[in-house]
Amino acid sequence: MSAAAGLGERAYTSEMSDTEINLAASASIQGIPAQGVQGDDLLDALRIERQGDLDWRGGKAFSLVYNSDDPELERVQHEVAAIFLHENALNPFRYKTLLRMESEILGMAKALFHAGQAALTSGGTESIFLAVMTARERGFAHGISSPTLVCAETAHPAFAKACHYLGVEMIRTEVSADGRANPEAMQAAIDERTALVVVSAPCYPFGVIDPITEVAALCETRGVLCHVDACLGGYLLPFWEALGQAVPPWDFRVPGVTSMSADIHKYGYAFKGASTVMYRDRDLYQYQIFMYDSWPGGLYASSTAAGTRPGSPIAGAWATMNHLGIEGYMRLGQRVLNATNGLKDGINSIDGLKVTSNPDMSLFEFGVDPLSESGRSLSIEAIGDVMDDRGWNLDRQQGGLHVMTSPGHDKIVESFVSDLDFAAKNHGAARGEEHMYGGVVSS
Ligand SMILES: Cc1ncc(COP(=O)(O)O)c(C=O)c1O
Repeated sequence: MSAAAGLGERAYTSEMSDTEINLAASASIQGIPAQGVQGDDLLDALRIERQGDLDWRGGKAFSLVYNSDDPELERVQHEVAAIFLHENALNPFRYKTLLRMESEILGMAKALFHAGQAALTSGGTESIFLAVMTARERGFAHGISSPTLVCAETAHPAFAKACHYLGVEMIRTEVSADGRANPEAMQAAIDERTALVVVSAPCYPFGVIDPITEVAALCETRGVLCHVDACLGGYLLPFWEALGQAVPPWDFRVPGVTSMSADIHKYGYAFKGASTVMYRDRDLYQYQIFMYDSWPGGLYASSTAAGTRPGSPIAGAWATMNHLGIEGYMRLGQRVLNATNGLKDGINSIDGLKVTSNPDMSLFEFGVDPLSESGRSLSIEAIGDVMDDRGWNLDRQQGGLHVMTSPGHDKIVESFVSDLDFAAKNHGAARGEEHMYGGVVSS
């Protein structure tokens, strides 16, 4: 049987439109093929199909993959993923190497952020779910029967999702003119139902760090838990601080911060499936642990959401942290810093364009400068279209285009700025592309 037949009526080619790809895909889901496809045929077909997917190595993509541009790190990751591919950390005592690696990852995370307790999860969303659930349970224990979560409107949608799943009411507060959470607005939203207040380090849309010291202090005064979402900043900010950047206080050294999420699969450069959720102390962490002893199969004890847990992300995160070491994180952090500064300066030098707000980290939005006359004649949507046509993959937000910088972007600063300058001078009418972040796959 040919690979094309195994993968559907029609094999994928890179010239296909999105509609054709969907049709080819739907033709392939009529059931498991009666006969298996030869390994090499299947792999060859996938290699061809992949040529049409977003290329993250070339420096023209700005989200979804954090390209360390470090071939030796990639080699180590491929090998370690293969070694631990089939192992399962459901029962950590069966695979002692995974157990040791997990414990060491948590030790490294606790030391980096000055945390009291930590757990390894599959990603930022799981870390956030667990922190919200922990706060809800602690709220229940303190007599809060219908808990709320207070966050700025820039907090990641994973908090809205967690609240939705967990029956917590989310109260969103306005941000200040600089895009940062507004402590007065948060103060006004806190009441006897508040189970958790959330701040970001930094927020995704604008890359700014909320006024964590101020918000955490008011939480402490009011006896309310305060979570720092450092999914993005966690594994970059400590190294930027060491490189001499002005990083405002944001981790557990800030009094009043009680929990934190930080993703190893973002600026920790591990491959997907690794994040950390942390707590100031064991008392709070206890609410995250689930125990069930009424099952004929035996006692079920777990501190995170998954049952079966794949070994590769644990091994991958451990290998990445140990292979890079502080020196490696500083080296990659410096490259991110260079790329970020180059891109920001280049964008701000184009007449009529402006980086939004004053980002504290390596991600930001840019748009037209409404205060400049040339800015008012530009369309950021249409500029995005020209950039798309030139092969760049900038994400679109409500107010502009979004850039998330990785080490590999230090090689494209000049060509990006030159194409953006061209786009600003030569764009026509906007095609009306959507502002999309996630997506739903239905069948
Ligand atoms: C600030 C922030 N928090 C949370 C998340 C969710 O992380 P994940 O996509 O790993 O679930 C993201 C993802 O980009 C993020 O930027």
